Amino acid sequence: MRVAVIGTGYVGLVVGAGLSDSGNDVTCVDIDEAKIDRLRRGEIPIYEPGLEPLVKRNIEDGRLRFGTDVAAAVRDAEVIFIAVGTPPGEDGSADLKHVLAVAATIGRSMNGEKVVITKSTVPVGTATLVRSEIEKHTTHRVHMCSNPEFLKEGAAVDDFMRPDRVVVGVDSEHARKTVERLYGPFVRTGNPVIFMDIASAEITKYAANAMLATRISFMNMIANLCERVGADVALVRKGVGTDERIGPAFLFAGCGYGGSCFPKDVKALIRTLAEHGVDAGILEAVEAVNDRQKHVLVERAQARFGQDLTGRRFAVWGLSFKPETDDLREAASLVVIDGLLDAGAAVTVHDPVAMGAARTMLGQRVAYAPHNYDALEGADALIIVTEWGQYRTPDFDRMKSLMKEPVILDGRNLFEPEHMSGMGFEYHGMGRRSARPPHLT
Ligand SMILES: NC(=O)c1ccc[n+]([C@@H]2O[C@H](COP(=O)([O-])OP(=O)(O)OC[C@H]3O[C@@H](n4cnc5c(N)ncnc54)[C@H](O)[C@@H]3O)[C@@H](O)[C@H]2O)c1
Repeated sequence: MRVAVIGTGYVGLVVGAGLSDSGNDVTCVDIDEAKIDRLRRGEIPIYEPGLEPLVKRNIEDGRLRFGTDVAAAVRDAEVIFIAVGTPPGEDGSADLKHVLAVAATIGRSMNGEKVVITKSTVPVGTATLVRSEIEKHTTHRVHMCSNPEFLKEGAAVDDFMRPDRVVVGVDSEHARKTVERLYGPFVRTGNPVIFMDIASAEITKYAANAMLATRISFMNMIANLCERVGADVALVRKGVGTDERIGPAFLFAGCGYGGSCFPKDVKALIRTLAEHGVDAGILEAVEAVNDRQKHVLVERAQARFGQDLTGRRFAVWGLSFKPETDDLREAASLVVIDGLLDAGAAVTVHDPVAMGAARTMLGQRVAYAPHNYDALEGADALIIVTEWGQYRTPDFDRMKSLMKEPVILDGRNLFEPEHMSGMGFEYHGMGRRSARPPHLT
């Protein structure tokens, strides 16, 4: 099939590359010329495991190309994916200006019947708005389809190539058949393509993200209680997660969720609920708990070292909002670093892949360590914000020899408190009993 993907960010690039890999003829377009230039040279603008070989292979085989001419891509395509960003507007609702700008361009470029698929996360009712915008400019038939994307950054290629399920809202048999053909190669083992009406598909994406965010905030609330009463959230998680009605995923306590999706999607759903007169209390609480949780590590540092952190140096391990991505959008690390700097501390950071993005955002406000151990030199404490694999089994003796004080504030519960105290560390996890080396207790 001839496919155009409009918007070549995390989602558009993975979708375009994935669809070309199953034999479709795909053009990915974006208004960001610099990004398209890099892609044409075979450079991948984001860190996403497995993406580079996928893109290169399909460029070389002539099935995947990149451009900035959205109108031309629309004219050539039978199927058009809209994958542009939907950032939060000032009131928290999803800002649809990019989506509707693309819809207008599609309308002006229609030269026949086409299927238009909204891949961006958009509030219920958006497909109707997109259709009206397109139909202002054309009399050609447009088949609308809502196909929310559930890929996870860091595992995006795998998620797209082997989805748990594909959710598709359609309003015509033609759209249904087209999407069935497109996704057939990706669900050969029987994972479902779930067809539904468009409004239900639009809501499904927000409901899924809001549910996951709710589990995280819920467990962070429980973690805070565990700390107050000397219980251990790791044990509570096991006890709760083995209930098969609940299941074990997304029950880890930590220093708050971030990223390009959960924060903005929770906000946008709160707005949608309010617009339709539905009480959003659950999600308001989810958001409030998360906003607070991002401050816990700095509060803990201040409880340990004093409100004024002038003269103190902290090492921060992990900047991206989660492992295996260089995405810093809404990352907890940014709140932690701001808090430490505001309290007068000096900060040295390390991240396996997000240092470039961090330099752009943080500039000279922090020092950058080329290796995670380098960040520890002379540090009063280590603060762990992102659970990168390489931080999980470090050389503890080397760490101790570099640090001024062997104190770890762990925002992701990478280690066992007793083990850490046995290794000579003072260790504070999230929702766990703090542990000190025997000679200090
Ligand atoms: N990132 C994720 O993990 C993820 C997962 C599922 C769904 N989503 C949703 O997918 C959408 C895209 O997310 P993303 O993370 O890929 O965003 P992104 O910011 O990485 O990419 C969006 C791209 O769209 C381009 N763009 C904006 N206006 C354009 C226009 N008029 N014409 C052509 N290109 C235009 C931008 O230049 C940018 O390259 C959002 O709605 C997001 O909520 C994201």
